[in-house]
Amino acid sequence: MRVIIGHYAQDCGFESIIMTYRQGTFMSKELVHIEKTAPGIVTVTMNHPPVNTLNQGLRDSLYQNLKQLNSDPRVKAIILTGEGEYFSAGADISEFKTGFKGATLVQIQKQLENSEKITIAAINGDALGGGLEIALACHFRVTHATSRLILPEVTLGLIPGAGGTQRLPRLIGIEAALSMIVSGKAISGADALQLGLVDYLTKESEGLIEKAQDYAKDLIADGIQGIPTCEHNERLQTQMSRDELIASCQNEFDTIVRKVGLAAPTACVDAVLATLEKSFKEGIEFEQSLFLNVLMSEESRALQYIFFATRRAAKLEQVVNAENLAIHKIGVVGGGLMGSGIAMSVINHGLRVILVEADATKLKACLERIQQNFDISVKKGRFSVDDVKKRMQLITGTTDINELNQCDFVIEAVFEDMDIKKEVFQSIANAVHPKTIVASNTSALDIDELAQSIEHPERVIGLHFFSPANVSKLLEVVVGAQTNNHTIQQSLLLAKSIKKNPVLVGVCPGFVGNRMIFKYVEQANQMLLMGNRPQKIDHVMEEFGFPMGPFAMSDLTGLDLAWQPTRYPESVQDVMCINKLLGQKTRQGFYQYDETGRKRTPYDKPFNLLQNFARKNEIEQIDFEDNIILKRLIFALINEGFKILDEKVVKRASDIDVIYIYGYGWPPFLGGPMYYAEQLGLNKVLTTLDHLAKQYGDDFKPPETLRNMVKDKSKLKDWGKITYSHK
Ligand code: COA
Repeated sequence: MRVIIGHYAQDCGFESIIMTYRQGTFMSKELVHIEKTAPGIVTVTMNHPPVNTLNQGLRDSLYQNLKQLNSDPRVKAIILTGEGEYFSAGADISEFKTGFKGATLVQIQKQLENSEKITIAAINGDALGGGLEIALACHFRVTHATSRLILPEVTLGLIPGAGGTQRLPRLIGIEAALSMIVSGKAISGADALQLGLVDYLTKESEGLIEKAQDYAKDLIADGIQGIPTCEHNERLQTQMSRDELIASCQNEFDTIVRKVGLAAPTACVDAVLATLEKSFKEGIEFEQSLFLNVLMSEESRALQYIFFATRRAAKLEQVVNAENLAIHKIGVVGGGLMGSGIAMSVINHGLRVILVEADATKLKACLERIQQNFDISVKKGRFSVDDVKKRMQLITGTTDINELNQCDFVIEAVFEDMDIKKEVFQSIANAVHPKTIVASNTSALDIDELAQSIEHPERVIGLHFFSPANVSKLLEVVVGAQTNNHTIQQSLLLAKSIKKNPVLVGVCPGFVGNRMIFKYVEQANQMLLMGNRPQKIDHVMEEFGFPMGPFAMSDLTGLDLAWQPTRYPESVQDVMCINKLLGQKTRQGFYQYDETGRKRTPYDKPFNLLQNFARKNEIEQIDFEDNIILKRLIFALINEGFKILDEKVVKRASDIDVIYIYGYGWPPFLGGPMYYAEQLGLNKVLTTLDHLAKQYGDDFKPPETLRNMVKDKSKLKDWGKITYSHK
C-alpha cells in the first residue's frame, strides 16, 4: 500500500523533511506528491492534469523535491512516476513562445542522473518528449507492455532538446535511436524492453508502482549502484558507417520531411550522429545549438500553431455543462466504402457498431470488405490476427433497421441524394429513441433540410468523414440551425474517442473543405483546357508540398463523384466521365495506373480528348509558368477561405487550416492556407487577389471585409468571430 508521507511521518522519522516537502507542495499547488512507499524508498508523483506537461510549476517543484530527497541519507531509492494516464506529455509547448523560466529539465535530470540514490522512472503511461527525456536520465526504467514511449519533437519541427539525442543512443544504440527520433513515432513498453530502453516490464499498468518498489528493493539488497545514462558508452559501438546509419533511417526521414520540412529531421540526424565522435558533454552542447536553430524556424512555428489550432477547433466554447461521452452503441446505415470505413474507425477504438444494409448480399459484401481491409493491416504488421478478431466481434450486421433501437448514436452513410437520405432518416427516426442522435455523413447536402425531415431536428448533425474514413484524421462536424449543444458535445466526444480531429462548421454547399477544393480544381481544369498537362500542374503543387496535385487527387477520389450524367460534354468532368476515364478505380483517369491501381504514368488519351473539347469551345491556349499555376491554385483556396470566414461558416481562420492539414494534404509545415496568407501579409494577399481577379475572373474577387481589415491592419484571428446560438 502507498502511504502519504504526511500520515506516515510519526512512524518513520521523516519529520525533518516533511515540512520542506509540504512547503514545496504548497508553493507548487501540489504539482508533486511525495510518498514513502517502503523503507528507504520514496515515490515522487507528477500531478499536473490532464497529461503532466512539464510547465514551470511542475519543473520547479520536481527540482526542489528531488534536491531535498538527494540530501536525505535515509532515502535509498527514488521512484518517479505520473498521476493519471500519462507519465508526462513533455515540455509545455506554449512555453516555446513565452520562453522557459524557473528550473530547467537539465537541472532536474542532473538530480536524477547524478544522484547517489537509485533513481527509477516508473513509466505509468505514455512518456513523451521531455517526459521521456527525464526518464532517460534515471538509472533504471520500468513500465508496462502497453505504455508508449515517444520523442515526438520532430513533428513540431524541433529536436529533443533535453539530452534525448545523446542519452537514447546510449541506451538503445545509434541505429534504433535514429529511427525513433527521426520518425517521432511511439514504441510500446514491450518493444522498449526488447531495445533496452526499459529494464523491467509488467503486463498491466495496475500494480506498476509496487513492482517498481520490489525492483528497487532487490537493487538495494543486491548492493547495485545506479550508473548514469551518460556513461553507458558501450551501446554507441557500431559496425555501421555514418552513411549506412543515415541510410538506415532514410524512409522515416523522407516521410517526415513531407510533413515538417527539412530543418528538423536534418537536425535530428546530425544530433544523434554526433554521438559517433563527440563526448556526452560536447554532444549536449551541440544538441542545444541545433535545438535553438530549429526553434526559430518558420516550420516549427507553423507546426506549433497547428497543434493548438487542432485542439481549439475540437471544442464548443461557452459550454456551461461539459458532458462525458454517453455513447455505447453506434448505428451505421449503409455499408458502402464510407459506411464500412466509418464502422472500422469506430470498432478500432473499442466501441460497438450495428451496421445496417439494405439486403443480405450487400451486408455480406460490406462485412467482407471490412475483413479484407483488416487482413491487409495484419499483413502490414499493424494488427495481430487476434486484434482483428476482437474488432470484428464488436460489429453486428443486420438488414433490419429496427435493430437500431439499441443505439444512442446513428450515422447515415447512404447514397449522396437528398431524397434517398430523407427516406433513410425517417426510417432511422422511426426505429430509435427520440433522443438518439442522428448524423448524416453527407459531404455537401443541406443538413437543415435533412433535419426538417424528422421529428426533433435538434438531434440532427452532419459528420463528414473523409475517405478512407478509417484512416483520414479529419471530421467536419456540421452544425445545423437547430442542432442542440448536447448533440454537438456528444459528436465532439465521439470524434475524440475514435481519434479524429473534429472541426465545427456551419451549413453551406460543400461545407468548408470541399467548397474550397471545388474552386481549386476549377482553376486547375481551366489551365488544363488551356493546354497545360496534368503532370505539369500536379508537379507544381507537389513541389509546393502537397502529397499529390489536383489531377492525381481527382483520380484518387473518382471523377464520377457527384457527376450528373450527360451525353453533351460541357466540362472537364463530363469529358472524362463520358469516356469512362474515372480515375484509379478504372485504372484510367488523368493518368494511367498499374495493376495495383496506385502507380501512375502520364497518359495522352485524356489530354487529347480535352484538347478536342477546348478547340470546339475555342478556348485560348496559354502555356502557364509554374509560379502562375501555383498562384492561381493557392489563391483560389485562400480567397474561398476568406469568403467562408466572411459568411461565418467557421468560427476562426485556424479552423480552415486544421481542415486543410488533416483532410486535403496541405503541407503541415506551411500551417494551412489561412496561416500561409497571414505570413505572406494580408496587404500583399489583397493586391495579388485584385490582380488575379482582373486576369482570371471573379472567383478571385476578395470580400470587402479583407479590404477593411488591411486598412485597419487587423489580424486574421479577429475575423469570423461567431457564436453558435443553440438551445
Ligand atoms: N504542451 C502544452 N499543452 C499540452 C501538451 C504539451 N506538450 N500536451 C498536451 N497538452 C494539452 C492540450 O493542448 C490539451 O489542452 P486543452 O484541453 O486546453 O485543449 C490537453 O493538454 C489535453 O491534450 P489532448 O491532445 O487534447 O489530449 P489527448 O489525450 O488527445 O492527447 C497527448 C494527449 C499527450 C498524446 C497529445 O496532447 C500530444 O501529443 N501532446 C504533445 C506532446 C509533445 O509533442 N511533447 C513534446 C513537446 S516538445
